[in-house]
Amino acid sequence: MKDKAQLAVFASGTGSNYDAIDRAIKQGELDAEVAILVCDRPGAQVIEKAEQNKVATFVFNPKDYQTKTDFEAEIAKQLREVKVDWIVLAGYMRLVGPTLLSAYQGKMINIHPSLLPAFPGLDAIGQALQAGVKVSGVTIHYVDQGMDTGKIIAQQPVKIEEDMTREGLQCKLQEVEHMLYPKTIQQLIKEGE
Ligand code: GRF
Repeated sequence: MKDKAQLAVFASGTGSNYDAIDRAIKQGELDAEVAILVCDRPGAQVIEKAEQNKVATFVFNPKDYQTKTDFEAEIAKQLREVKVDWIVLAGYMRLVGPTLLSAYQGKMINIHPSLLPAFPGLDAIGQALQAGVKVSGVTIHYVDQGMDTGKIIAQQPVKIEEDMTREGLQCKLQEVEHMLYPKTIQQLIKEGE
């Protein structure tokens, strides 16, 4: 086993959480390495970020595969090659199937911008604003076969002010995410040692 925990970050979009993880590693706050970025959207911004850091990437288009099992088998192969310890989902916009779940059970986590079990799935921020709740927040949880249903690891609330815009809430939630995700990953790594 390598000295440092090897992470696979799965992302589909901007990659601000990827950035936060990378920053925490560089600042010595997270004792890990990003071994590979897995991205299901060719052209996503996060790919460029990983490439700038010389992190290996596996970018694929699900449409090029017949089934989820097919592309997940390919992902699993790539992860085995770089000896991944933890899968960290950071804005990976699809449900993980049994191929990866069985290989990385208890070693796969996700971050979600609500206090689960409230507002799972797409547009958690819009759902919270629509419901008129006064508090939302961020959840980090283990991944299971459901949509944001796995066992909760960490949560942090964020107050929703009276005239808060969607952008304002998103910004506050992301600030929390960028602090909470690296910190929680570090705790899990330490607990597993
Ligand atoms: C984050 O808000 C995360 O909670 C959700 O997807 C978003 C990803 O954002 N699962 P980014 O790509 O890390 O900026």
